[in-house]
This record gives sequence, structure tokens and C-alpha cells, in this order.
Amino acid sequence: MRVAVVYDRLRAEEKAIMRAVEELGHKPVRLHLNSTHLSLGMAVGFSIALERATSGIKAYSSAAALEASGVKVVNSSQVIANCYNKLVTTAKLLESGVPAPRTAIAFSLEGAYKAAEEVGYPVVVKPVNGSWGRLVSLAQDEEELRTILEHREAIPSPFYRIHYIQEFIRKPGRDIRAFATEDRLVTAVYRVAAHWITNTARGARAEKAELTSELEEIAVKAARAVGGGFLGVDIAEDSERGLLVLEVNSVTEFRNAARVTGVDIAKEIVEYAIGA
Ligand SMILES: Nc1ncnc2c1ncn2[C@@H]1O[C@H](COP(=O)(O)OP(=O)(O)O)[C@@H](O)[C@H]1O
Ligand SMILES: [Mg+2]
Repeated sequence: MRVAVVYDRLRAEEKAIMRAVEELGHKPVRLHLNSTHLSLGMAVGFSIALERATSGIKAYSSAAALEASGVKVVNSSQVIANCYNKLVTTAKLLESGVPAPRTAIAFSLEGAYKAAEEVGYPVVVKPVNGSWGRLVSLAQDEEELRTILEHREAIPSPFYRIHYIQEFIRKPGRDIRAFATEDRLVTAVYRVAAHWITNTARGARAEKAELTSELEEIAVKAARAVGGGFLGVDIAEDSERGLLVLEVNSVTEFRNAARVTGVDIAKEIVEYAIGA
């Protein structure tokens, strides 16, 4: 079978996925988005594609284009859309009864101050379409919130006019990144850091996590809430309320998690996509 790998940047993850496709006896087809075109509705010569574009909007658009040609894309454009915008993700999680931090959104400065009052300081402010912990900020009070929002208002993108405001979860020096599908928890790591932002892209250390039934339950529920697929679920541990989902990633990096857990995540992704 020919299995496409759709990407914009060829990272260790995409290389590992192509190797896994070969190891499983199939033929990887490279689809480099920055040097190709997709004809909507035309036959493309493969029936399964692994969507790996780092740009959310490119991932969403190329997945939708391939779906028009009858390709099964993992993750689907709909799932990518549900994960691309954190506000949509949180909405989907709450709709499905998945525990998440208290969150409010506002489309103006005045609205944002009221939202923060209601959520309760300190608050975390995030871009709705960010990743790698970029521009994720903490405001202890209205004064700090004002500074963050003023910077945000100066950025010429409509995404920054949407203020996503969330209660700050006091975590035990780590978060959990779980890799899960709608059926099972594949593996998970703790992301340990002195700083409250625990993205490994920001220097947090990945450690093998204990796979508890509580973790499996919330990770699978979160995967289902966004429409299923092979997903990276970011989870915070709250001392009183237990596990809370921060966000769900539809195009996940996994090289550190694969290294520390010993789980061949690339192979797991390919097997999931081809239905093996
Ligand atoms: N409400 C919160 N309370 C405490 N820490 C948070 C909260 N939201 C995010 N973080 C920290 O910031 C990191 C980045 O936030 P996240 O929502 O995962 O966005 P990104 O797409 O940038 O990874 C999280 O992994 C977590 O460590
Ligand atoms: Mg994250």
C-alpha cells in the first residue's frame, strides 16, 4: 500500500514515520507541501495520508484537499480544526464532559478584564492558535493582564483579538503529555520543569509517566471529544480536582516521548492509520 506523509518541515518525527511505513511493508510517498500542489477531487495514487504539517492552517487545508480525493487522512481535517483553535478544543472537551480548567473568552479589552475577574487571578492568557508554549502568559492581577493584552492588540492578526483566559493550575512541577486514540492510551510522559510552562520545546525534561486507569480514561475521552484520531493530550494535575485537560494536539511531536518510554510512537501512528 502507498501511504503519504504530508509535511512542510522534515523533522525526526516525519523521518521516523516514513521508516515505520517501510518497516510495515508499505511504500511511503513524500508530499512536501511547500513544493507541490493538490488538485481537488482528482485521484492522487494513495488512499492513506499521515498529516504532519507544522503549520496548523496548512495541516487543516491540505487534509481537507486530500479528503476531497477520497484519501483517509490521519488526523482528519475536522479533528485538526477542533484542535487548531484552543478555544474550540476547550469547548469540545467541556461539551463531552472532559474536565478542563475554568476558561473564558472575550473579544475586547473590557471583556477580557471581566473574564479574568470571573475566572479568578492569577490567570493564564494564551493565543488560541499557538504552540510550543509561545506567548502563553501569566497575569497575577489586572495590571499585568493589561500589559499582556496591550502587546497582543499590537499584533496584526485577528487571532490576537480573541482573548483566551484560563485559571492557573498549580501543578506539581510537571505536566503530562499523553498519546491516545479514541480507543486507548498509547503511552505518556511527564514533562518536568522548574518553570510552569512545561513544553519540551522550552526546555522541560520528558520522563516516562505512570499509565494509570485515571489517565487512560481522561486521555481517551479527550481524544473522542475532538473527533478521534491519534492525538497528543496535554494534562495538568490539580491537587484537588485531579486531572484536567489543557489542550489536544492533532499533529504531535513525539521524539522525546519515544526515547524515554521506549514506545515506537511512529509505528503506532502508522499502524493506527492503516488500521493494523
Ligand atoms: N491553565 C494553566 N495552568 C497552568 N499551566 C498551564 C495552563 N495552561 C497552560 N499551561 C502550561 O503552559 C504549557 C503550554 O500551554 P498549552 O495550552 O499546552 O499550549 P501550547 O500549544 O503552547 O503547548 C502547558 O503545557 C502547561 O505547562
Ligand atoms: Mg501544549
